[in-house]
Amino acid sequence: MSDKILVAYATKAGSTAEVAEAVGQELRDAGAEVEVQPAKEVKDLSPYKAVIVGSAIRMGKWVPEATSFVEKNREALSQVPVAYFVVCMTMKDDTEENHRTVEAYLDPVCEIVEPLDKGLFAGTINYSKLSFPARTMSKAMKVSEGDFRDWEAIGAWARQVHSRLTRG
Ligand SMILES: Cc1cc2nc3c(=O)[nH]c(=O)nc-3n(C[C@H](O)[C@H](O)[C@H](O)COP(=O)(O)O)c2cc1C
Repeated sequence: MSDKILVAYATKAGSTAEVAEAVGQELRDAGAEVEVQPAKEVKDLSPYKAVIVGSAIRMGKWVPEATSFVEKNREALSQVPVAYFVVCMTMKDDTEENHRTVEAYLDPVCEIVEPLDKGLFAGTINYSKLSFPARTMSKAMKVSEGDFRDWEAIGAWARQVHSRLTRG
């Protein structure tokens, strides 16, 4: 039985990939053997004893390839400890109401496989990294640019998840 943890992610503009790498590095620092991969490239879950799945949010939803990863691997994921994280702009202001909104983004995947833990993180908007339609939409919605990722919070969550995922 393998001792590896998988961090699978889906991103549109790159910020979630960096969050996934940071989570992976924190787990390695805690002594785990970790692979960090785009969700769409993962072929087989048998090498992993636990799986973390993270996605950017677009229009209130996980990026489709992250959701289909959970759907496709429903059976394998129900056999191992699982945690989810989201990276989005709503978490820029960490209010109770925003927490509820962002928790609700995870409802569709929680209905497929219930996670042991959920990480809710603020993300990044960089117009130069967006496709033309996404940039146009963000400008129309007056979304301000900036990197709001809280690396301390991301690291703390990864350490907490490491102990929860490896406990049982
Ligand atoms: C077109 C578009 C739609 C977005 N929709 C939401 C949303 O519904 N809720 C939210 O909190 N953040 C939303 N965001 C913010 C992204 O989730 C955030 O920028 C995140 O860091 C993107 O991750 P990525 O760089 O990995 O793609 C949106 C961003 C874009 C560009």
